[in-house]
Amino acid sequence: MEMDIHRQFQQYFGKEYQLAAAPGRVNLIGEHTDYNQGFVLPAAIDKNIWLAMAPNNENHLSVRALEYREEYTFSLDDMHPVKGWPTYLLGMIYMTMPEHRLPEGMDVVVTGNVPVGAGMSSSAALCSAFGLALNEYFHLGLSRLELALAGQKTEHQFANLQCGIMDQFASLHGKSGHLIKLDCRNLEYEYIPFDFPDIRIILVNSMVSHSLASSEYNLRRQQCDAGVAVLSKYDSNIHSLRDVRPELLEAHQSELDGTVYKRCRFIIGENQRLLTGCDFLKQQDIDAFGQLMYVSHDGLSMDYEVSCPESDFLVSTIKEMKGVKGARQMGGGFGGCTITLVEKDSADTFISGIQSSYERNYGRIPDCYSTIISEGAHIVQPMAEQ
Ligand code: GLA
Repeated sequence: MEMDIHRQFQQYFGKEYQLAAAPGRVNLIGEHTDYNQGFVLPAAIDKNIWLAMAPNNENHLSVRALEYREEYTFSLDDMHPVKGWPTYLLGMIYMTMPEHRLPEGMDVVVTGNVPVGAGMSSSAALCSAFGLALNEYFHLGLSRLELALAGQKTEHQFANLQCGIMDQFASLHGKSGHLIKLDCRNLEYEYIPFDFPDIRIILVNSMVSHSLASSEYNLRRQQCDAGVAVLSKYDSNIHSLRDVRPELLEAHQSELDGTVYKRCRFIIGENQRLLTGCDFLKQQDIDAFGQLMYVSHDGLSMDYEVSCPESDFLVSTIKEMKGVKGARQMGGGFGGCTITLVEKDSADTFISGIQSSYERNYGRIPDCYSTIISEGAHIVQPMAEQ
């Protein structure tokens, strides 16, 4: 695969270039918990953004995606948010480079197979790949954690999404065959083996692009903060929903706005499910883990209200299918992908079955991706002379 990518970039650049790759991610359980200082359980997958860059001897930054015809050019002194995907590149320059600028003009070209708008974090992969390439080329000496934080700030300040740290962290810290149990309060993490050779992780794309996602996402964050503002009056140790016990929430339900209460209930429960789920994984109990995924989905749909009819249809249909252990909508929400754990021997019939059920209902065949848990972002070495 990377050989083909090299060939494409070589055709484009015709000279040496710096190449980096960064993956998208799945998240097994623990949704919207990251910005509530809770736990998440993501993993990097075998879908990547590849980014190549080389100096262009001009005084500008030029960016293009191999898949698109357009090319965008930016003055080096002009790193501010723009519409569309180049904003992530401008943001990463702003967040990582001394004086927020490139010292010389560069050509940047990207390609990849992380579906956009599918809840697999293509934007975090783009930031991570560029961050790694800048770090290497300009000898910035930034750690992977610093690059992940730069990616998160880029989302906040250049894309107006007040996201947590999960996606960037997973893209940069992924480890083949392992989930990352990340504590978003102190950013300590533990790799948990996903050691289930008979299970496949299959994503079914609802084909609904989450256009509402950023405004509703930011609103969810505010609603969680509103809950903390009330509940922290009763315990000075409460700094986030991570710190709230279910009993305390129930005791003060009447003081919370009904919507805020539901949001808090979901987050507090989801964090608990993640901890229980990790124990199940360590005990090799994939059936019990799968059941928690359904509970997570119900909460996402009814309490956190970030699902959509298509995702609800997928999960309820998938639940009845042969060989399925668990399923739920994954990522920020309002569409994107549903993640399903399926027995290996049922994987093919699962994919054809869910594609035809969905098509019967919605008139479109959903894309399905069988994913492999893979290494995180890396510098790709130049191709040997041929
Ligand atoms: C998006 C955000 C993450 C996280 C998820 C929901 O992917 O970028 O930080 O909040 O949504 O779990």
